[in-house]
Amino acid sequence: MLTGKKILIGITGSIAAYKIPLLVRLLKKQGAEVQVVMTDAAKDFVTPLTLATLSGLPVLSKGFDTETGKWNSHVELGLWADLFVIAPASANTLAKMATGIADNYLLTVCLSAKCPIMFAPAMDLDMYKHPATQENICTLISRGCIFIAPASGELASGLCGEGRMEEPQEIFNKIKDFFQKKQRFAGKKVVVTAGPTHEAIDPVRFIGNHSSGLMGIEIARAFADQGADVTLVLGPSSIRAERNSIQVIPVTSAEEMFNATTATFKNADIAVLSAAVADFRPETVADHKIKKSPDNDAMTLRLVKTEDILKTLGQKKKENQMLVGFALETENGIENAKKKLHSKNIDMIVLNTMNEAGVGFKTKTNKVNIITKDDKILEYGLKPKNEVAQDILDVIYQSLTRQ
Ligand code: CTP
Repeated sequence: MLTGKKILIGITGSIAAYKIPLLVRLLKKQGAEVQVVMTDAAKDFVTPLTLATLSGLPVLSKGFDTETGKWNSHVELGLWADLFVIAPASANTLAKMATGIADNYLLTVCLSAKCPIMFAPAMDLDMYKHPATQENICTLISRGCIFIAPASGELASGLCGEGRMEEPQEIFNKIKDFFQKKQRFAGKKVVVTAGPTHEAIDPVRFIGNHSSGLMGIEIARAFADQGADVTLVLGPSSIRAERNSIQVIPVTSAEEMFNATTATFKNADIAVLSAAVADFRPETVADHKIKKSPDNDAMTLRLVKTEDILKTLGQKKKENQMLVGFALETENGIENAKKKLHSKNIDMIVLNTMNEAGVGFKTKTNKVNIITKDDKILEYGLKPKNEVAQDILDVIYQSLTRQ
């Protein structure tokens, strides 16, 4: 299954390092080529000899090996690998990865790596919970690194809690999963809408909403990571797509989003419309800043409907195109989402749960139900938005392969 896959394993200084020989063995048994890179601190926990024997290759720790006189190019290694798995990833290494510090060989390979990076943290409970560590993890995830969350359990300190590196078998499963999913949308053209829209009132004011764009951006990133050719039509958002392969079309208003999305949809195989598009815009936009009048304590703004992009695409949709919408409901969620699914002629709708902690516009997590064309409801728990994106892609993929 992993025949010919080139996997770099980076080991840092944590007691969990003693479990990595098992991971190397599992990968080798499946036909992968494994090259181990370790920090000096890691050698206190597991010997290079064990790892070299199991991987069949000398372990690398330095750019220049004084014993053999050999130069180990971090650049070449970074280009060689299909995947770089850093396990265990200590708090120190995560911090350095997040800030781009390269003061050991493993970190120089990290900075040179062209392949995706997976990391499995291992540390004590309080180090893991520290805001600095959490921020570093978020930074790495937002750059596209794949996070293998630590499990809860007994820690080396004797404390019990989160911070225990995931078991080698689980890390192995994640690696297998990665290679299986890597190219599953190859050749597919995908358009994703994300973010809010801003509807101008005058040159300095607009009507907008609180959407950050993160959910749609995670969907675009997940498609790009799985081989799709992605166009992201993005309303005003401070979040960057962080993938060079994603073509971003920045838009401001619902009208601009409508024009960009309908044009791109013509050649698309899949469209996922997650943007929070304004349903109404001011009928006229003032040429100059609207001034307060001393005589009026109130003002009236006449709003007119914007075009419904999802509905328009539902009308234009061809047999071989898949259209996915989102629904934001504050009451009768399932019922209203099903109505949208059928009235807008879409293939699947993602219903955002509202009124619960950890969900909504400004959060990094979300909780959704996915309703398919045949009214099947799939329920999911509260998860980081990148994992929600994976769930959505899984359902899209299943439905494409069933066709
Ligand atoms: N949508 C769209 N164009 C609009 C409004 C909404 O493409 N002008 C899309 C959204 O991107 C989302 C779906 O329609 O995929 C549903 O959006 P939502 O705001 O939940 O519902 P609306 O259709 O706008 O209906 P209502 O506001 O009445 O619930």
